[in-house]
Amino acid sequence: MAIRKIREMGDSVLTKVCKEVTEITPRTQILIEDMLDTLYESGGVGLAAPQVGVLKRIVVIDVGDGPLVLINPIILETGGSQTGDEGCLSLPGKSGVVTRPNYVKVKALDEDMEEVIYEGEELLARAFCHELDHLDGHMYVEKVEGSLHDLEYEEE
Ligand code: NI
Repeated sequence: MAIRKIREMGDSVLTKVCKEVTEITPRTQILIEDMLDTLYESGGVGLAAPQVGVLKRIVVIDVGDGPLVLINPIILETGGSQTGDEGCLSLPGKSGVVTRPNYVKVKALDEDMEEVIYEGEELLARAFCHELDHLDGHMYVEKVEGSLHDLEYEEE
């Protein structure tokens, strides 16, 4: 188990476009394990590789239903909309209101480079959008309606 340091907003690694993963090396497997360890340690619901300083298109998400690993994810379909508070491990203690689709269907590769398709609603749909944005160098603060506020409670 290894916890990696989470990069915070202002770090240029969070503004870069990540590269596609072409093969799963032992190094990539360790990265994914460490990302999951780091996610669970932090109490967040999602983490993207650039947040631990690695410019690869990998995200891990767990909204309470078990871990999802998405490699080279792309959004296939969205529907509806939801407006609510969103936060990010790279901006601790803050949150802001963001409108996202209420339904998101994504295609990705799993840890065996097999194609997987996931559908999510509500928090999972929000997590897909938020984490995939990180892979293109975007933070939710670019989409916040109004201003950021201090978190009033712990997510956990
Ligand atoms: Ni984030």
